Amino acid sequence: MSVTINGSTVSLPDDPRVSLLDLLREHLHLTGTKMGCNQGACGACTVLIDGERILSCLTLAVQADGRAVTTIEGLAEGDRLHPLQQAFVDRDGFQCGYCTPGQICSAIGMAAELERGLPSHVTADLAATSITASREELAERMSGNLCRCGAHNGIIDAIDATFFSKDTAQPYRPDIPEVAA
Ligand code: FES
Repeated sequence: MSVTINGSTVSLPDDPRVSLLDLLREHLHLTGTKMGCNQGACGACTVLIDGERILSCLTLAVQADGRAVTTIEGLAEGDRLHPLQQAFVDRDGFQCGYCTPGQICSAIGMAAELERGLPSHVTADLAATSITASREELAERMSGNLCRCGAHNGIIDAIDATFFSKDTAQPYRPDIPEVAA
């Protein structure tokens, strides 16, 4: 049994009890994926399997047999960050950065869900074929990814600018007065 991780084929461990999170971090040393709660509550361990976001702490590695896993390490192209990674930098989408890999993987999966017209808890018209990516929609859809630094506004800004508003305006910079010489 094997899984493709960021384009490379990897044999799955013989022990069927190994979680996908432990395979990534402990066996393959892909430590970009973080362990937070290890019980499905924080979203820090989110990765993509065949483009769908999943919690790797609640997924057995064997469940990924024959599938393609993408982690935060698989998003950049060399030195060129994925546009959402760059937007997190430009829009202050993180402080300590611990939740950031999970936030970014989750947002990529979430954008695809919205594109497919999947409704959320706050979608007013469940029969709508096109759903507006309002801040309320984005916040609801990202509510499984917690940020203890409280960077949620910057996170939503980054997601919106990357996938929805296509806003190419200059990143927000706080108005800090220059210190007199
Ligand atoms: Fe998986 Fe928290 S570590 S949800």
